[in-house]
Amino acid sequence: MIGGKKKCIGLIFGGESNEHEVSISSAKTVFKAFNSEINKQRFTVKPFYISKFGDWLESGLSEQILFDEIEINSIKKQGIFNQEKFNFLEGIEFQNVDVWFPLLHGFNGEDGSIHGFLQFTKKPLVGCGIIGSALGMDKILMKTIFSNLKLPQVNYLVFQNENLKDKEVQNKLTNEILKKLNFPVFVKPSNSGSSLGISKVVNESELLPALEKAKGIDPRILVEEGLDVREIECGIIGKSKLLTSEIGEVKYESDWYDYDSKYYSNNKIKIPAEIDPKTTKEIKEIAIKSCRALNIFGFARVDFFLEKSSSKIFLNEINTIPGFTKNSMFPMLWEASGLKIEQLVAKLVDISLDL
Ligand SMILES: Nc1ncnc2c1ncn2[C@@H]1O[C@H](COP(=O)(O)OP(=O)(O)O)[C@@H](O)[C@H]1O
Ligand SMILES: [Mg+2]
Repeated sequence: MIGGKKKCIGLIFGGESNEHEVSISSAKTVFKAFNSEINKQRFTVKPFYISKFGDWLESGLSEQILFDEIEINSIKKQGIFNQEKFNFLEGIEFQNVDVWFPLLHGFNGEDGSIHGFLQFTKKPLVGCGIIGSALGMDKILMKTIFSNLKLPQVNYLVFQNENLKDKEVQNKLTNEILKKLNFPVFVKPSNSGSSLGISKVVNESELLPALEKAKGIDPRILVEEGLDVREIECGIIGKSKLLTSEIGEVKYESDWYDYDSKYYSNNKIKIPAEIDPKTTKEIKEIAIKSCRALNIFGFARVDFFLEKSSSKIFLNEINTIPGFTKNSMFPMLWEASGLKIEQLVAKLVDISLDL
């Protein structure tokens, strides 16, 4: 390595969100990449596992989770706050960490909370800051900003904190949806991920159950007009200058890209996607513009819809801590763009250090 001691990477994974298992899979990939022959010269890794109850585990135990030596469902809630022990990091040795790599998907992680928390340690981190993370996680705020910039999006409606048990409210929402959007519609919790809590609704009778389901995750709900689309994704890395990866397309056998088709089926990923050069260029431009709009940097995956009938581009969402599982698009996009996973993780650290 060039000068200085090895950098210690604090890899944080697991977490309280419903994407806990996805985070563990992502962390396995990243841990292995930092421990590869080429990276071992430059880096050491200290993993920190956060249980489903929000308890932090020390590095030795965390590493055992990454090697499947501990069954995660056997981990009990520590109940630290009930024991009048307020320092929930007691016994968690993180003084030697040089750079944080938070790999928590969803709630209490990707939504900016971990970024805010880590800011107190005064150490750099891989990814963006509090604002970008929080906005990237909140579909309603993200869409509002994109609308302001006239970035192309599907038609949508926002419902916040509505009492769905009230008949009058039920009628009001149903009427508004019927008046302003065409079926099918997608009903989504504003704050979620991995398609959890999302329903595709094809007729009026399915609306209320879908709204209830979304509300079970977040009282702020988004209802979008559903189009017949190709799903296109673009990777972003960088800070003062954002770089785009090749564009990828994911094809699945299910009707839409729901949780099961994301993680349990044999999706076909095509990189580069078969799209014309003009559309490719436009997608890359929108990817950068959208990240800048939300102050997102470090790394991100920007997802688009390409309407099959019209070939129109619609910006869907930005994921500020993209998946790194073995089926994940983000590392594949960069591999196709010339950065193998080992090079990619090292590059992300360099970006966080402004190198
Ligand atoms: N407006 C839409 N039109 C067509 N398909 C959609 C629409 N919104 C969502 N979907 C489908 O649902 C999937 C998940 O939606 P998305 O908003 O990306 O949520 P998540 O953040 O959970 O990934 C999309 O990848 C797509 O397959
Ligand atoms: Mg998505």
